[in-house]
Amino acid sequence: MADQSVVILAAGFGTRMKSQTAKVLHRAGGLSLIEHVVRTALTVAPPSNVVAVIGHQAESVASTLAPFGVRTALQSNPQGTGHALRCAREQAPRTGLLTVLYGDVPFLSRATVERLIAQQSESDAAATVLTAMLDDPAAYGRIVRGQNGGVEAIVEYKAASEAQRKINEINSGIYCFRADLLWKHIDEITTNNPAGEYYLTDMVEIFRRHGYRVDGQIMADTRELLGINTRVELAAIDSLFRERKNRQLMLDGATLERPDTICADVDVTIGQDTIVESGVRLLGATTIGANCRIGAGSIIANSTVADGVVIAPYSVIEDTAIGAEARIGPFARLRMKNQVGAHVHIGNFVELKNTRIADGAKANHLAYLGDSNIGAKTNIGAGTITCNYDGKLKHPTTIGTGVFVGSNSTLVAPVTLEDDSYVGAASIITENVPAGALAIGRARQVNKAGWGAKKKKSS
Ligand code: UD1
Ligand code: CA
Repeated sequence: MADQSVVILAAGFGTRMKSQTAKVLHRAGGLSLIEHVVRTALTVAPPSNVVAVIGHQAESVASTLAPFGVRTALQSNPQGTGHALRCAREQAPRTGLLTVLYGDVPFLSRATVERLIAQQSESDAAATVLTAMLDDPAAYGRIVRGQNGGVEAIVEYKAASEAQRKINEINSGIYCFRADLLWKHIDEITTNNPAGEYYLTDMVEIFRRHGYRVDGQIMADTRELLGINTRVELAAIDSLFRERKNRQLMLDGATLERPDTICADVDVTIGQDTIVESGVRLLGATTIGANCRIGAGSIIANSTVADGVVIAPYSVIEDTAIGAEARIGPFARLRMKNQVGAHVHIGNFVELKNTRIADGAKANHLAYLGDSNIGAKTNIGAGTITCNYDGKLKHPTTIGTGVFVGSNSTLVAPVTLEDDSYVGAASIITENVPAGALAIGRARQVNKAGWGAKKKKSS
């Protein structure tokens, strides 16, 4: 892998996206386009040998790339693909094989890139071009093959003759070069073409002039070469990622009902015999265990769900870990940083935020539990609210094990309810409750006999 390098061309303007956001930062399948390509690059080369050529919105693209540890090269004034690659010269290795990928061609698979590199490394050609046979070759560059089967030239559509436009083999724009020869001859590219740009495709004829051979490799699945220029194409590629992901999840043993309505990001995993109902979104780094049921319309992001969990329909869960056999929803909102223990029940219209709720505890209806730590087997009655915010600061609520909080209670934080304590319904709790005690914090009921009759008479 050390003698492999990858340059990702990603400096183009992307005008047709009609967007303030750089094209390669738009998302498909749960990642930005450039992240897909960088991940593919990193399967064949170490981060120090991967160079992304950026230009348009360079700062935001560079910050997306920073966590990967790859290099970036600036092309501040894009003058064509040949010029873009030249901008990577200072950063890229001089030897070994150099593969060129596009930042806006995200569906290209690792296997295809590996096959291209394998062919180049076994041949004595100066480069291998990844090509495709298309019924409608549109405006792609055309591959002109010679007698011996090698590639003689790549002719851009604008410069192609009528006869050349009839060629069905096109240039994907993905290449594997011998790095030494590429860097030796890249300055020979000129702007002598209708667009006045430095065409990387000219390298074919330059190599041939120096007596080298250039080969082509025809790709199997032409969907992989699809680039993104508009939001229509973005949506099409997103669907391809979703389809590929759902198919893999099903092959791995999950049941997906109406898979075309289910949206799972590329990093999601699901255990065997879990059933995912229609309309579910599983986002980010979400892991679902085995034998779970994920109810229709639920959204789960960056969360971990253990085995045997039931998430009833229309629950929204973010940044949360859920223990085995828990029951969540319907209509539950687990907002962020929650730890939900095994066998916990969180029912309808319950919101959790930054809350740990231990094994076997229950909050079955209508509650807000924020910044709280709730012990095992505790029961939180319907309508319980933790008042965690005093207008300036957030405060914690600590509830022990085996506690019973009566319905419609208001727990004014900071406050502690110790183990096995009780809170009478509709209490406002402002002071700590000792272990085993009953706290009642409400006005006593008064019944006024005959009051109704008197009222009717006086009015
Ligand atoms: C290029 C090829 C064409 C091929 C097609 C496949 C050339 C001259 N032509 O055409 O044969 O069929 O790709 O999609 O190479 N970029 C830069 N800086 C630039 C110009 C481009 O970074 O100055 C990047 C773009 O962001 C994009 C990629 O290079 O990711 C391809 O550029 P694009 O302008 O789309 O190339 P095409 O004209 O489509
Ligand atoms: Ca293009």
